Amino acid sequence: MTLILGIETSCDETSASLLEGEGDAVTLRSLVIHSQDVHRIYGGVVPEIASRAHMRAIVPVTASALREAGVEAGAIDAVAVTHAPGLIGALLVGVSYAKALAWSLDLPVVGVHHMEGHLFATSIEHEAAVPPFTALLVSGGHTLLLDVPRWGEYRQLGATRDDAAGEAFDKCAKLLGLPYPGGRHMEMLAAKAEGARFRFSRPMLRRDQQPGDPDYFDFSFSGIKTAVLLAVRQLEENGPLSNGDRAGIARAFQDAVVETLTAKVVRAATLHSRQRVVLGGGVACNSALQDSVRVACESIGAVMYAPTPRLATDNAAMIARAGLFRFEQGERAPLTLNAFATLPLPGTIAA
Ligand code: KG4
Ligand code: ZN
Repeated sequence: MTLILGIETSCDETSASLLEGEGDAVTLRSLVIHSQDVHRIYGGVVPEIASRAHMRAIVPVTASALREAGVEAGAIDAVAVTHAPGLIGALLVGVSYAKALAWSLDLPVVGVHHMEGHLFATSIEHEAAVPPFTALLVSGGHTLLLDVPRWGEYRQLGATRDDAAGEAFDKCAKLLGLPYPGGRHMEMLAAKAEGARFRFSRPMLRRDQQPGDPDYFDFSFSGIKTAVLLAVRQLEENGPLSNGDRAGIARAFQDAVVETLTAKVVRAATLHSRQRVVLGGGVACNSALQDSVRVACESIGAVMYAPTPRLATDNAAMIARAGLFRFEQGERAPLTLNAFATLPLPGTIAA
C-alpha cells in the first residue's frame, strides 16, 4: 500500500490530493481543487496571473488535502507532481513546491505527464476502466485518440491537427457571447435549441476514409470555428442574434463535434477489438458526447466509462493515480526535475 500526494498546477487549477492503494485497487482519500476565477475577466488564462495565484494557493490547498484525508505529512510515502505539459510558470510552482516538500520529508518525487493523468482519472471511480481500452482524451489543450493495451503503453492513433476540442468549444462560446471557459455554457445553450435549424459539416469525417489514411483518426476543429463565425455574421446582418439562433448554432456546433469524436472512437475500438472505451479531459463532462459514445459503443459490444466532472477537469487525484503507477514501476525523479511546456506522452508505442 502506498499513500501518495498528488499536486497539479499546469493551468488554472491549483489542486492537491491524497490517494492510497496498490496496482489498480485505489482509494481516493481527499481531493481539493482551487479554480482560479480571475481569468474569467480576461476571457482566457493569463499565464503570469496563473503562476502568482498558484503561489498563493499551493500551501493552503495542500494543507486542506492533508486535513481532509486526516493524515499527517509524515504518513505520505511519495509525492507525484505534474511536470509537463502546461504553462511553464504555473508548472514550476507545483514542481518546486513538490520537490521542496519531498526533500524536507525525505520522500521520493515522481514527475507525471498531465495527459497520462487524464488517462488514469476514470479508473479512480470505475474499477473496470483499466486496460486494454480505447481512450479519447478531450481537454482545453489536447485531443488524443489512444489505444491502450496496458498502463504505460500508449499507441497514439489520432490527434488534433489544429485546435483542441475544448478550445473549439471555448472559442465558439466566445463568438456566441458566453463566459470563459465556455464548454459547459455551450452545452447548456445547445440544450435549449428547438429543432435542427443549422448544420455544420463534420470536421475531418468522411465515409470513404480507410484505416491507414492519415485523416482516418485525426481531428481538426478550426474549420468549424470559422463556420460558426460566418453563421453568426450572416445572421447579424439582420440585427442581433435571437436566443433561438444562438441556441441553434451551439447545438449544431456540438452535434458536429460530438459526431466526429464518436465516429473516430468507434473506428479505434473496432480496429483494435477493444471492449472498453474510456473518456477523459474536461470535454468528457459533456453529456451529449457521453450519450453519443455510450450508444455507439453498445452497438459494437463495448462499454464506455466516463469520469465525473471533478475528475474529468484538471485535478490532482489523477496525477496521484498516474504517479502511483509510475512509482510502482520504480520511477523516481531527481531533485533536478524540471517543468516543460510540451513533452511527448511517455510510453508511446508505434501505431
Ligand atoms: O481538462 P481540462 O479541465 O483542462 C485542460 O487540461 O485543458 O479541460 C478544460 C476544457 C475547457 O475547454 C472547457 O470548456 C471544456 O473542457 N469543458 C467542456 C465542458 N466542461 C468543460 N466542453 C464541453 N462541454 C462541457 N460540459
Ligand atoms: Zn487537463
